[in-house]
Amino acid sequence: MLNRRNLLKVAAIGGPTALLGWDRAPGGPSAEPVALPAAPARSAPGGRAARIVPFAHAMRVPPVLSPVSRTGSSDLYQLRMARTQVEIVKGLLTTVRTYGDCFPGPTIRAVKGREVVVQQTNDLDVHTSVHLHGGHVPSRYDGLPMDLVEPGETREYRYPNEQVAASLWYHDHAHGLEAENVYRGLAGAYLLSDPHESGLPLPGGEFDIPLLIRDARIETDGGLVYTDPYACPHMLVNGKERPYFEVAARKYRLRVFNVSPNRHVSLRFADGEPFTQIASDGGLLAAPVQLDELTLAGAERAEIVVDFARYPVGESVVLENTAALETERPEVLRFDITRTAEDRSRIPAVLATLPPIPQATVHREFELTTFPDTRINGRKYDPDRTDVRTTVGTSEIWTIHNHLTRRPAGVFHAPHSFHTHLVRFRVLDRNGEPVGPAEAGLKDTVPIHPGETVRIAMTWGDYPGKYVYHCHHMVHSSHGQMGRIDVLPAATEDPDQELGS
Ligand code: C2O
Ligand code: CU
Repeated sequence: MLNRRNLLKVAAIGGPTALLGWDRAPGGPSAEPVALPAAPARSAPGGRAARIVPFAHAMRVPPVLSPVSRTGSSDLYQLRMARTQVEIVKGLLTTVRTYGDCFPGPTIRAVKGREVVVQQTNDLDVHTSVHLHGGHVPSRYDGLPMDLVEPGETREYRYPNEQVAASLWYHDHAHGLEAENVYRGLAGAYLLSDPHESGLPLPGGEFDIPLLIRDARIETDGGLVYTDPYACPHMLVNGKERPYFEVAARKYRLRVFNVSPNRHVSLRFADGEPFTQIASDGGLLAAPVQLDELTLAGAERAEIVVDFARYPVGESVVLENTAALETERPEVLRFDITRTAEDRSRIPAVLATLPPIPQATVHREFELTTFPDTRINGRKYDPDRTDVRTTVGTSEIWTIHNHLTRRPAGVFHAPHSFHTHLVRFRVLDRNGEPVGPAEAGLKDTVPIHPGETVRIAMTWGDYPGKYVYHCHHMVHSSHGQMGRIDVLPAATEDPDQELGS
């Protein structure tokens, strides 16, 4: 565990100050700059960014991790966190922090009702904590910011997998270090299936592909520089800068993850062709939704089905990011249609029956601020302070407001990406308007743009214990835009009862 002295060290490394959000308010980069404290955790880029050459190499599908042993009800995995050299930009070697020497980490495939046990050994020289994002997991296995895996230690995480099929991910959550650890590579996909979902005629097997998208800055010497997202011109899919991917002329299920520590992405096909969203963070949507652009805030996921049969063999189509910076390029990934293949898959008109919207008895308000600091309700995360106390089974509505500071034009207003551990919530409305069908499913992360107010509803359960909620722009959470929630057992009569560790 982290003692006081270590905690101070972590704070000093992470930097106690707020950081620039990545979004600029109207007024643009030339407008009057705002004096913000320096960010000690992120170095100013010293060298030149490696030249962007789109489609220089093939995309890799992260390998699926094999269990080291299996019992009737559980699968045991072992992973080692270690420094590894990988080729992100073609021709350059980059040192990253990895799970199992993979960048991003290997994919864990789980099945509802079968427990997954992961023994994580930290062979890095920094603290880590492994969180299963979107997982319904007992507190002691949740990978909380203070439940650290110290260098040289091994920690066991047990995931019950009692929730519906969903594209989850595992990533670092060490207090104050999560932004840098994730930036340097500590993230991987965790794909949970269940009998209902695997019984649907959706594309499967080699036609079911995770796409972990994120930005980075690789310099000409191959160095990965942890810096402001404005200075990160590289866009990685499954660990390769702007790769190409060879596909068959048929339908694919693409599980799109935004694992960028601090960026939104808005994805569309360059030819404007539509695609179909079938799932969001927490599982299948009630019904498919047609889209021609998909925007994902940090940590959000969407599963889409794309039919490449609309292209002749030999043709290509580029997936581009309309939210690309001026310093980069819009291309993210090129699909090359190289062969035909049989396709019996289809998208059913009804995908899932969503649980009813929780009927709240408790209402809470949260204000996310960027100035003068990234905070929630004016407070910086303190692991020793309970911010919210609730009980198992309580349904709540949370009203979350991204505070817009009235300042002269040109100030930076950061969008936030709100995430709670333990539960999947429903997004009720944004600025009073009901959200569209793509946002109406089971969610664990929701974007909140400057000035916006979003209401979400959830039922706390089933595991009593300590959890956190926070902004998933990881530079913000690393600097304290996070709160602690204690979920007490349902029978608790004494509201002041403390949770043991
Ligand atoms: Cu994706 Cu608290 O994390
Ligand atoms: Cu934030």
